[in-house]
Amino acid sequence: MITVENLRKRYDGNPILDGLSFTVKDGEIYGLLGPNGSGKSTTMKILSGILKPDEGNVIIEGVNASENQLKVKEIVGFVPESPTLYESLTPAELFDFIGKVRKIPRGLLEERVNAFVKAFGIEEYLDQFIGTLSFGTKQKVSIIAALLHDPKVLVLDEAMNGLDVKSARIFRELLLEYKRKGKSIVFSTHVLQLAEIICDRIGVIHRGKIVAEGTVEELKKRLEEKSLEDVFLKITESREEVLEIVKALK
Ligand SMILES: Nc1ncnc2c1ncn2[C@@H]1O[C@H](COP(=O)(O)OP(=O)(O)OP(=O)(O)O)[C@@H](O)[C@H]1O
Ligand SMILES: [Mg+2]
Repeated sequence: MITVENLRKRYDGNPILDGLSFTVKDGEIYGLLGPNGSGKSTTMKILSGILKPDEGNVIIEGVNASENQLKVKEIVGFVPESPTLYESLTPAELFDFIGKVRKIPRGLLEERVNAFVKAFGIEEYLDQFIGTLSFGTKQKVSIIAALLHDPKVLVLDEAMNGLDVKSARIFRELLLEYKRKGKSIVFSTHVLQLAEIICDRIGVIHRGKIVAEGTVEELKKRLEEKSLEDVFLKITESREEVLEIVKALK
């Protein structure tokens, strides 16, 4: 369970998060949507214990993320929006390092690494420097790195980015399995069709707050729109602008 209460964060005096609140239940996939620069990644870094908010609280499985960043890192598996991996390590070395840091018993680590490596089909890259891997392969390594300690909570910042069709499907099935096991998952994406398939509930960030929240069906009904895209454009006040820009382009 994740509770986000009234988060505020400023950069250079500009309010990025301005009273952001939402909750994610056990066994729920919560989609965090919002325009570029709306604060999704900032929120996700706070959820993962990497960044502290100026105000407000994040409680993850009863632990306050600002007060106990180390504990939160044990509970949360975080896939950042761009893979920030040690480029001069190989995936095998990285997984080994994570096993040591997270104190995963040797046999269990091997079992998990083997299963994930096989699932994402990266056997042939295990001993190649991460810096030389393709974008999608790095993303797979980043995903595996986040899952190895079997975290109760997953924070996935555009984690499907760059995955090929097969791997995206496998990852999606894996997320549904995690959901069945009761994990709480926060999932950001710009691909609304993906959000529609995967997420139980959606929260749209705009001007530092969640301005609309609910299932896709609830949002469509409430905003009297036929598609999630139209809901999104309406909520973020972008629709008129889009029409004008398209007109000008013609
Ligand atoms: N370390 C930083 N220093 C200054 N400004 C920052 C910093 N990190 C983020 N910002 C600003 O905060 C705002 C929100 O950024 P954030 O990365 O959270 O957006 P986002 O919703 O994830 O966007 P995107 O959809 O492009 O990934 C942006 O205006 C960004 O420039
Ligand atoms: Mg982002």
